[in-house]
Amino acid sequence: MHRKLLTLAVALPGLIGIFAYFHATRPAAQEQPAPGLHVNFNDKGLTPKESLGMNIFFDARLSEPAGQSCASCHDPARAFTGNNKTTIGVALGSRPGMFGFRDTPTAMYLATVPKFGSIDKDGNRVPAGGVFWDGRADTLEDQAKGPFFNPLEMNNPDPQSLIAKIASGPYAAEFRKAWGERIFDTAETALDAVAASIAAFERTHAFQPFSSKFDAVMRGEAKFTEQEQRGLGLFTIRQKGNCASCHTVDEASRDPKKSLFTDFSYHALGLPRSMRIPKNATDPAYFDMGLCGPFRTTGDTTPEKDPQGCGLFKVPTLRNVALTAPYMHNGLFDHLRDAVAYYATRDTDSKKWFTDGKKFNDLPAQFHANIDVETPPYQRRPGQRAQLNDEEIDDIVAFLRTLTDGYKP
Ligand code: HEC
Ligand code: HEC
Repeated sequence: MHRKLLTLAVALPGLIGIFAYFHATRPAAQEQPAPGLHVNFNDKGLTPKESLGMNIFFDARLSEPAGQSCASCHDPARAFTGNNKTTIGVALGSRPGMFGFRDTPTAMYLATVPKFGSIDKDGNRVPAGGVFWDGRADTLEDQAKGPFFNPLEMNNPDPQSLIAKIASGPYAAEFRKAWGERIFDTAETALDAVAASIAAFERTHAFQPFSSKFDAVMRGEAKFTEQEQRGLGLFTIRQKGNCASCHTVDEASRDPKKSLFTDFSYHALGLPRSMRIPKNATDPAYFDMGLCGPFRTTGDTTPEKDPQGCGLFKVPTLRNVALTAPYMHNGLFDHLRDAVAYYATRDTDSKKWFTDGKKFNDLPAQFHANIDVETPPYQRRPGQRAQLNDEEIDDIVAFLRTLTDGYKP
């Protein structure tokens, strides 16, 4: 019965089928999707393990108290972002008043993310790869185990309690069938299977559809407007946006996988402190320093051992960026245009961004050397012209809007 419903749901083109299915079977706590869904699931059907991953991803029974699923913060209608509907740039957990420290990034286009390591870039070795804003999980499997037990997210006390919910839930039989009759005997082993199912779901076509206008243009099936074309130029030209040096795009390739709009490397943008984040507002000594902590605790990544990692965050993909507000690791910007404008005038009009007059106020002064002030678009000095004028900012934003999946000519 359950499997039949599921097959029916994934057979329908698009998300609406998926939502109809979950709406019918999920507890009432799960909210309706926003109108205007832009991300399409693969209508060719999912493998049993991918289907399980989907069930788990949308299962709002799996938090403590119940009511929050992965999709509460990774809403398909918002390209798998959403912060559980808060407006302060960080997510609300399953308990009232429990806010996280970072903006929810999209869970899309991570199927090929490499493990944390380093790459060659402009003649230097720079850190790259990994999952989370600070790359502290090596794989989607590692990542998927985190939110269930994070007290500021789904807040389960231990694997046993999580697995008990799955073992008594509506897809327990499918779970046993896919992973073995005795899979629920050991909570740790069952948790590995949960994580592997979620990761398999996150690697499906639905999470990397490559169905934007940009992709259509690359395949020769659509044409940019003049403004979008100018925006792409500004995005790639080194002396202008130079955006593509981090947000990778390969215009010459018809293979969209060459244009993930990230090289998964780490950089310090020197962003202003967000006082909307409760932790920032109440604790002036607290700094989110990305690669050197406080959440990345493995390897040589403490402020003492790796001062060069302080302030660096992973380059996020810009695919679907028009749907993923707010922006940056601290959810500082509500509007895409502001995120782009920051690059344009960070150094020429810094008072606009650092209203307390203290430039780079979200990173202790001893680490300011980690913030690039030489490579475009960061090479301007106070009093000079902005790196991008208003019209050029608009052009880039117009181009970024072509990265939304589900484009229909
Ligand atoms: C309460 C909100 C919330 C819930 C619930 C939640 N996430 Fe997240 N997710 C976040 C935030 C915030 C981050 C970034 C955290 C960081 O970088 O330290 C994140 C990061 C991620 C990433 C990494 C994206 C990247 O670019 O590296 C993936 C993948 C992900 N979550 C999947 C999941 C899955 C799977 C679940 C359910 C098991 C889940 N999330 C539940 C808020 C949430
Ligand atoms: C040197 C590398 C680099 C360059 C060049 C660069 N970016 Fe970024 N970009 C990043 C990093 C790193 C982040 C995340 C920073 C953070 O949150 O701390 C980011 C974040 C963003 C975001 C927010 C995305 C989100 O999901 O929150 C947007 C939009 C963006 N960049 C657009 C651009 C544009 C447009 C340009 C060119 C004008 C550009 N970037 C140039 C590295 C770069």
